[in-house]
Amino acid sequence: MSVMQQATSISSSGSGFLGQNTFFNTRYSSSTKELSIKVKTKNSGICKCVAATPPPPPPPNEKQQIAYKTNVSRNGNMAKLQAGYLFPEIARRRAAHMLKYPDANVIRLGIGDTTEPIPEFITSAMAKRAHELSTLEGYSGYGAEQGEKQLRAKIASTYYGGLGIEENDIFVSDGAKCDISRLQLLFGSNVTMAVQDPSYPAYVDSSVIMGQTGQFQTDVEKYGNIEYMRCTPENGFFPDLSKVSRTDVIFFCSPNNPTGSAATREQLTRLVQFAKKNGSIIVYDSAYGMYMTDDNPRSIFEIPGAKEVALETSSFSKYAGFTGVRLGWTVIPKELLFSDGFPVAKDFSRIVCTAFNGASNIAQAGGLACLTPEGLKAMREVVGFYQENTQIIVDTFKSLGFNVYGGTNAPYVWVHFPGQSSWDVFSEILEKTHIVTTPGSGFGPGGEGFIRVSAFGHRDDVLEAAKRFKQLYK
Ligand SMILES: Cc1ncc(COP(=O)(O)O)c(C=O)c1O
Repeated sequence: MSVMQQATSISSSGSGFLGQNTFFNTRYSSSTKELSIKVKTKNSGICKCVAATPPPPPPPNEKQQIAYKTNVSRNGNMAKLQAGYLFPEIARRRAAHMLKYPDANVIRLGIGDTTEPIPEFITSAMAKRAHELSTLEGYSGYGAEQGEKQLRAKIASTYYGGLGIEENDIFVSDGAKCDISRLQLLFGSNVTMAVQDPSYPAYVDSSVIMGQTGQFQTDVEKYGNIEYMRCTPENGFFPDLSKVSRTDVIFFCSPNNPTGSAATREQLTRLVQFAKKNGSIIVYDSAYGMYMTDDNPRSIFEIPGAKEVALETSSFSKYAGFTGVRLGWTVIPKELLFSDGFPVAKDFSRIVCTAFNGASNIAQAGGLACLTPEGLKAMREVVGFYQENTQIIVDTFKSLGFNVYGGTNAPYVWVHFPGQSSWDVFSEILEKTHIVTTPGSGFGPGGEGFIRVSAFGHRDDVLEAAKRFKQLYK
């Protein structure tokens, strides 16, 4: 049985794209109640915060003094993108908040970045490899673009044991996000794509950059030529496929970021059948597979027939705290073929040889350590820690009477604020509690009315955040 199948834990989050108007014209809740909260500051003082209207973000195209311009025209696809990528914008707002309240103890439960130290067993392996690089015998330069043979084999046997995935099907990378963009390069600009709505923003943004989409339509907050598969509490966060138009590529993330929901075996079977009927390729993102506690598939390849219609991308980021180390992988089965019969994996291999030079050898040593019995145990402990955080957050919002989704199979909690603008809720929470969350609408129009609360945080911070949420919403 593979590790993905064995993993016993909780679960994860989502992504987004920002509508021009939601980005720059966010209406802060000027009607904010005069609610005051006592927040402990870094200097152990108590800072009394009174709700106030935050300063508006800078205007989008403020004319700067231009001294010189090149004659190169801007990539029109870049111009289609709506404002910045979601998470840098949140970081910008956090920085502005910290300037306003320099003594506040700001708690970050926004961007899904890990906070706990990498287990020493794993860093020791990386340190050893780093030191070996200073010796004649241990030095190595460029490695195979597809990854070290031993690591590819270990990923195949650990996560896909018994599923017919082999060493050569694995492409080791510097992370799932980077692979998402390389996959877009592989597909080119003439494909159509579908995404869950809401979804991790990298799928849509990379699709826009590749030129697969039309312009952003402000009335519906969607890009033209993308099929948005709405995922709501009403449909159990699994799209009604009878209403989904055929596309070439279907991005599907489970456990999902941001909703924290996970698709069942039966739902994924339907998705695979849908792809097969339409001749589509599923790009399955299993970056949170190890957070699954239910008996749902950890990999799309657990579904019969998936190897002919799906590839999968995954990552050590959220399992071992590798968000900074950078290590992930993509699985492309040899059975996956383009319409002319050419293997998708062969083209992807060509892409990684052109656009990538292989993952860092030090990071790969870390990856190998992760997949030893001791490393796997350490990763499960890391995941288990965040799962406990998730439970604290879920319990907090439930006790306050909110409808709360996710959290069982993912490190993300999806909290419903019906009828409210999620940027307003984000701003109110930040202003009144100094907690950074993520506005649901940043993950697509289907995220409006929700906020995502990430369970990646130190335990003390999560407990403190729970207290502040209780004060705010009691
Ligand atoms: C669904 C999903 N896929 C991919 C990634 C990126 O992972 P990596 O750090 O491996 O690039 C994230 C990061 O938050 C994510 O949420």
